[in-house]
Amino acid sequence: MRVLLLGSGGREHALSWKIAQSSALEELFIAPGNAGTRQFGKNCAINPTDFEAVKTFVIENQINMVVVGPEEPLVRGIHDFFLADEVLKNVPVIGPNKYAAQLEGSKDFAKQFMFRHNIPTAKYATFTKDTLQQGYTFLESMKAPYVLKADGLAAGKGVLILDNLKEAKAELKSMLADAKFGDASSRVVIEQFLKGIELSVFVITDGDAYKLLPEAKDYKRIGEGDTGLNTGGMGAVSPVPFADAAFMDKVQNQIIIPTVKGLKNDGIPYKGFIFFGLINVKGEPYVIEYNCRMGDPETEVVIPRLKSDILDLFEGVATNTLSECDVQFEEKAAATVMMVAGGYPEAYEKGKQLYGLNVATDSLLFHAGTASDGPAVLSAGGRVLAVTSYGKNLEIALSRSYATLENIEFENAYYRKDIGFDVV
Ligand code: AMP
Ligand code: GLY
Repeated sequence: MRVLLLGSGGREHALSWKIAQSSALEELFIAPGNAGTRQFGKNCAINPTDFEAVKTFVIENQINMVVVGPEEPLVRGIHDFFLADEVLKNVPVIGPNKYAAQLEGSKDFAKQFMFRHNIPTAKYATFTKDTLQQGYTFLESMKAPYVLKADGLAAGKGVLILDNLKEAKAELKSMLADAKFGDASSRVVIEQFLKGIELSVFVITDGDAYKLLPEAKDYKRIGEGDTGLNTGGMGAVSPVPFADAAFMDKVQNQIIIPTVKGLKNDGIPYKGFIFFGLINVKGEPYVIEYNCRMGDPETEVVIPRLKSDILDLFEGVATNTLSECDVQFEEKAAATVMMVAGGYPEAYEKGKQLYGLNVATDSLLFHAGTASDGPAVLSAGGRVLAVTSYGKNLEIALSRSYATLENIEFENAYYRKDIGFDVV
């Protein structure tokens, strides 16, 4: 198989590492990729949202499968673009179509879907500029903290959690009337605050069958003890100790099965990953959000724990035979710690050379934001490098990643020293 993988982060480096191990692979291309992905395939300088450029590349390089890493091309309709094209329509795209990708692309769409199918989630209401006054009244009827969510994609910044009513009203106005997040906040979902511990659960589906992948826990805040600003994710662990068999049964029966069946009953074809952002409230799972892709940095622990051939699974998705695929996992735990540029998630510098990448360790180094300059590897983003290790348990996996991190450096690098602190 000749595979094109779209994206450039740690998720895509981990996916390319896994795809390269498949016996079905003939050649792998990554668009645009990073300095890490070039170990496993050919990087090509194509923007994943430039569908015409993707098309030309697919035809010229006789690609047989396109795997979409990030949400943006999906939410913008890359799957539909392929289906509508005479030449491309036979090239399977792993990732949902535009309508289905609204599970991530529109919070209001996702909420309506969950209520329609009785999937546990926080109570909510949606407002626009024209219903701002009703929004204020709704806020007055709720208790603090107040959760406001821009309906559309807002680069992970569209969710505000506010402690007082006055502030919540001012933010609601700024989102709806002053377009704080542009078009993404032309609708705002206000929802009940849920208190609990979060985890990420993943499935891959062909629209009929699904396969559960290992669960993970992501650490989103920049500071130790889960303090400070939100980031794309500072580390992750898998498995999640509190996600025991009884809890995961509830997740499957109350959330995953109703979601996959709900999509089918609504006539929504779905081919790809579904990421369930869940919260455990006193032993009961609730959906905080859906994503139409794998998580990052969760992929850097979930994919290393997948034993089965990933192209087999993708082929199952493409041909509607996923039910026949056998999915095996590593018993071992995996942990990843993200090295970021000092200053991130606010202003930070790029172009810093990374040292120590070639020192042999038992860790897997997944590049998140890097570029190559000849043989040198330079930082090219806020999140720079995910250091993943296996262990008999999470403690051992984490200590291996931290040992590896001692040998890697770039100017102004930062990482959290407490990944896994609340579960080990
Ligand atoms: P989202 O983009 O919807 O995942 O929201 C970002 C983050 O905000 C989540 O990971 C949670 O930490 C938090 N959050 C979102 N919705 C709620 C809620 N209803 N109750 C408590 N925390 C929430
Ligand atoms: N780690 C959270 C996300 O990928 O959205």
